[in-house]
Amino acid sequence: MRVDIVTIFPDYFGPRQADGGAGGFGPLGVSLIGKAAARGDIDFQVHDLRLWATDVHHTVDDTPFGGGPGMVMKPDVWGAALDAVLAAAEPASPGQPGAPVGPARLVVPTPSGMPFTQDLAAAYAAERHLVFACGRYEGIDGRVVADARSRMTVDEVSIGDYVLAGGEAAVVVIVEAVCRLLPGVLGNERSVSDDSFGGGSGAMRGLLEGPVYTRPRSWRGLEVPAVLLSGDHAAIARYQRDEALRHTAVTRPDLVRRLAVVPGGLDAKDRRVLFEAGFPVDGENMAH
Ligand code: 6GU
Repeated sequence: MRVDIVTIFPDYFGPRQADGGAGGFGPLGVSLIGKAAARGDIDFQVHDLRLWATDVHHTVDDTPFGGGPGMVMKPDVWGAALDAVLAAAEPASPGQPGAPVGPARLVVPTPSGMPFTQDLAAAYAAERHLVFACGRYEGIDGRVVADARSRMTVDEVSIGDYVLAGGEAAVVVIVEAVCRLLPGVLGNERSVSDDSFGGGSGAMRGLLEGPVYTRPRSWRGLEVPAVLLSGDHAAIARYQRDEALRHTAVTRPDLVRRLAVVPGGLDAKDRRVLFEAGFPVDGENMAH
C-alpha cells in the first residue's frame, strides 16, 4: 500500500533527510507497522506542504472570508501539492513495477468529518493508495475538497469528539488502525477478527473484550478465573462472551443497545446475562 502524507510539519513523522523529505516515519516507523514499511509492504511518503507555496515567506494560510477567528489554508497551495503528489504516484507506464496503480483515496482529517470507525479502517485497508491532507489553523479552503471530489473519492474524517491542533496525530491513529489490517502485518489473523470492534466474523462482534490473564495463576492474592484453566473450550467461550457483555454494558451501553436491535446480535442467553447484570435490553434501556 502506498501512503502519502502532506503536512506543514513533516518532522512530526520523523527526522528530516538530506533530500528534504522525512524519513524514519516517527510513530509509524516502529513496531509492526515499521517492519511492514521496512519490508516494502507499506510505502510512506511524507511531503512538506510549504514546498508548493509560491511567495518568499512560504505562506500557506490567509484570513477567512466572512471574518472570524484564525486563518484558513490557501486553496492554490493545497491544489498544487495534491496535483503533484497524485501525479508522482501515477505509474509512468501501466504496470510499471514499484509505482502504485489504481486511483488514490484522499483522506482529510478534521473534527467536522464523519466518524472514523473499524469499518472505515477495513475499507481503507482494501485501497492501494491513500493520501492524507493534514490541515492546521481553522481548516483548508472548502474548494480544495470540492475540486478533489471531481477526480477521486474524498473522505473528511474525525477520530473523535474533541479538537486537535492539527490532523497529524489523527493520521497516525488512522494509519495504525488501517495498517494492522493489512495481510501479514499483525502475523495473527485471528487477533484481528476477535478484537474489540472486531470484524464481521468474530464471535465477539459488536462487543468490547473483557479482561485477559496470563501466568502466574495467583498474583497479589488475585486468582485467574478458574474456568480459563479448565480446558473446556465451550465453557471458556461462553465465559468470555458473558464478561464482554457485562463489560460493554457498563462502559458502552450504546453498543449493547445497538446489538440488541441487530438481527442475531443478542440471543436469549445473552439477554439473560445482561438482565442479571442489571441491564435489561428490552424496555426502558432501549428508549434511546
Ligand atoms: Cl481528524 N483533526 C483534528 N484537527 N481534530 C480532530 C480530529 C481530526 N478528530 C477529532 N478531532
